[in-house]
Amino acid sequence: MNKLNSIILASATIFLWLLMINCSKKNVPLTMPEDNTPKDRIEKLLQEMTLDEKIGQMTQYNGFWDATGPVPSGGDSKWKYDHLRAGKVGAVLNVSGAENVRKMQEVVVKESRLGIPLLFGLDVIHGHKTVSPIPLAESASWDLEAIKQSARMAAIEASARGINWTFAPMVDISRDARWGRVMEGGGEDPYLGSQIGKARVQGFQGTDLSAHNTIAATAKHLAGYGFSESGRDYNTVDVGTSTLYNVILPPFKACVDAGVSSVMNSFNTLNGVPATGDHFLQRDILNGRWNFNGFVVSDWGSIKEMIDHGHAADVEDAAIKAVNAGSNMDMESYAYVNHLKKAVEEGKVKIEIIDDAVRRILRIKEKLGLFDDPYRYCDAAREKELPNHKDHHATALDIARKSIVLLKNEDNTLPLSTSQKGIAVIGPLASDKNSPLGSWRFGSDDGTAISVLEGLDAQNIAYQYEKGAELITKETNFLEEVRINETDKSGFDAAVQLAKESEVVIMVLGEHGFQSGEGRSRTKLDFPGVQQDLLEQVHAVNPNIILVVMSGRPLVLTWAEENVKAIVQTWQLGTQSGNAIADVLLGNQNPCGKLPMTFPRSVGQIPIYYNTLKTGRPGPIDLVFWSHYIDESNAPLYPFGYGLSYTTFKYSNIKVSKQADTDAGFVKVSATLQNTGKKAGREVAQLYIRDLVASVARPVKELKGFQLVELDANESKSIEFTLSKDDLSFFDNDGKLIFESGKFEFFVGGDSNADLKESLEIE
Ligand code: NOJ
Repeated sequence: MNKLNSIILASATIFLWLLMINCSKKNVPLTMPEDNTPKDRIEKLLQEMTLDEKIGQMTQYNGFWDATGPVPSGGDSKWKYDHLRAGKVGAVLNVSGAENVRKMQEVVVKESRLGIPLLFGLDVIHGHKTVSPIPLAESASWDLEAIKQSARMAAIEASARGINWTFAPMVDISRDARWGRVMEGGGEDPYLGSQIGKARVQGFQGTDLSAHNTIAATAKHLAGYGFSESGRDYNTVDVGTSTLYNVILPPFKACVDAGVSSVMNSFNTLNGVPATGDHFLQRDILNGRWNFNGFVVSDWGSIKEMIDHGHAADVEDAAIKAVNAGSNMDMESYAYVNHLKKAVEEGKVKIEIIDDAVRRILRIKEKLGLFDDPYRYCDAAREKELPNHKDHHATALDIARKSIVLLKNEDNTLPLSTSQKGIAVIGPLASDKNSPLGSWRFGSDDGTAISVLEGLDAQNIAYQYEKGAELITKETNFLEEVRINETDKSGFDAAVQLAKESEVVIMVLGEHGFQSGEGRSRTKLDFPGVQQDLLEQVHAVNPNIILVVMSGRPLVLTWAEENVKAIVQTWQLGTQSGNAIADVLLGNQNPCGKLPMTFPRSVGQIPIYYNTLKTGRPGPIDLVFWSHYIDESNAPLYPFGYGLSYTTFKYSNIKVSKQADTDAGFVKVSATLQNTGKKAGREVAQLYIRDLVASVARPVKELKGFQLVELDANESKSIEFTLSKDDLSFFDNDGKLIFESGKFEFFVGGDSNADLKESLEIE
């Protein structure tokens, strides 16, 4: 179906829905228990609800047209609408806009027997109308306050458009840049990922979930989704218990502790069991050990997919297994609505399981204030004023600037002087106003990002531009797919000629925003299409190249590292992309981002990550029998935590001391940090530990703290980290957090290669 047909179909469907909604409004009063205390209200409701109505609360339908997964058959608009009126739907997704939301909310509130308001969910992943950098980029800022503010802004904009629930943050740790969804997470490290997950939850939910500008957050995807084999999305996951407990689960726990409202389970099997049907993950760990009191929503169709996984015989079997395992709400499998009633009547699912699920869902509705005002998020005036608010552009610009990572800067090529003459800009992404919006861009308008060219224009920089290669847009059913031309080199001559005549070439290359994200796994991590060839041909005539890399993941930049003068990693930076990039290129912003994921030298090194175990043969030795490659170094191209600045920093004087045996202050680590360059700058000072001998071997380094330190030229500051006993503990293979006395090493520095070290024997 082409885009026009799908738009016609979708518009007709919306029209039909709205017609049905408008034609059948009845003034049925909202049935509400008189007692207004939250708990009583939920318990009274539960007592009044029929089994159908309870199962209804556990059902979530996609709206009409912004499908974010394959649409199952059998759920046409009329069917869904009848279910709304019958109180058989608890939540919808992909319906937004204050008016649309109000109309649909009115159907359930006014026409269903109990009038229980709906949750309106959407993937508000990085901004809404105003688009922030993709989450991986934001994570490169290591700036928790800025990340929180970005989520806050997204919540304000989305809530003004009727949304009260987001499917974010994604806290899946991943070590595999082939997986397209690394763009949506916090990178490879559990400590950083936990801090970021928590900041995002706090940003979305604020301090009062019932305020009209806060929305319920979802930690996703429980669990292991980021470890899909060979980086192929939706693939099998097989990880050991130590990795599960120490790497994958901590960010989820951090979100639960921060009060996240819901958790989404994942598409993958984990050690043979689909996460959606995994009792251990959902009931034992999440609800049991962690005391989670929100609800679990399935991922899109993941209940039904248990059949494909070979874990359920049919949809009924899948429904029973999922609900018993702790999946409280069914997103778009139609499994609960069609099969749970019979399963309860036949005793295959206990009513207590249903009641628990409904109670959890109603509790979040209560916290959101929906029982007091179901239209709390449907204010046309707010909708007019807040999305795209100029203050939000300032927020988006701030974090975009902080998300940029300077990877190479030979001969201080950057920053460019504003009087620099003879600037050429080359590359298809330099003029593009779409790609920087990333692949999760609901709510935004296509083509609204500031391009690199516009960013330079805004600062009155004179340049000449040649694209060199074209972007190719392909319309699919609902989504747009964009590629960078793979064969056509007809633009090369003009680009090469321009480079020849110029003093410096800014090449803007990378992946289009639609080349990473869900379903966009890659086997090659080079510049897609003809871009590498373009780079090499330009380099042959003018090696004075500043390479601006736009991508949703680490790319293999080995050739570029060896050949160009400067490399700036700019990810997909959202609405303010071009302004932020121009600010860094021209030195209005001293780059301060640090990599949240390791950049490999070659794809064959993947999975590659800094917190690896040492192995029994770490080498190097003078024989072939050690853990290495015969054709590539073990070292990454750029390590986790790495990022340059226009100034330089020096760490010295590390001291480690054991404190009184209290949980808060077990060990103190201090060091001196000096700005040894000529410009003021900000450094992300990082603290790593190593536990040398343990019953379960520990990684060669583990991040345990970081601080953002602002320093003027030549200024020195003393930095101090306080570690608790838990920080020096680890999860054993039963999932118990244990501390083992012995020798620890402490490292302080500007990236995960930090070698300023002190050891301490701790009893
Ligand atoms: C599938 C994705 O895995 C999930 O993250 C997203 O929230 C849902 N689709 C809804 O769009």
